[in-house]
Amino acid sequence: MSNAITRVLFVCTGNICRSPLAEAMLRTELERRGVESRFEVESAGTDAYHVGEPADTRMRAVARRHGIEVRTRSRRITRADLDAYDYLFAMDAGHYRSLRHLARDASIEKKIVMFRTHDPEVVTQMVGDRLCPDVPDPWYGGIDGFERVYEIVSRTCVQIADALLNSHDD
Ligand code: 4NP
Repeated sequence: MSNAITRVLFVCTGNICRSPLAEAMLRTELERRGVESRFEVESAGTDAYHVGEPADTRMRAVARRHGIEVRTRSRRITRADLDAYDYLFAMDAGHYRSLRHLARDASIEKKIVMFRTHDPEVVTQMVGDRLCPDVPDPWYGGIDGFERVYEIVSRTCVQIADALLNSHDD
């Protein structure tokens, strides 16, 4: 078993809704398994509009109702992040394309993964010419959209925690 820290970065647009929730959820899953010290989990946004802001109040409220505290402040992704992290999870296809655009070589490209490839309810990985479904952007919609994001992110982070532990133990 490797003793190295595995570094995970979740990436969305504003870093105030989807990726901060994924960060908090994966941390929770790793803590539940008692392995949090072996991982570093963070999140970032492709856009700078909300840099320095706490997560969206609607996202925080939905998470809190489920017992999860989202405490991040928004930051924008940098090229250095692509080197530093072992796994870069894109919350939607736009983030996937942005990350691929930033990646300078194949060793970095292979670290970029669509988040919902780990969603247990996604049975078909290819949808048309799309890699897999997005985590829908909840920003302009109502609270239902945030609940839907919570459901997707929570069940997917359980699977990501399992997958990380399996590859960590290789
Ligand atoms: P996120 O949601 O990418 O999940 O943090 C968004 C937050 C803000 C905006 C878009 C998406 N915005 O356009 O300001």
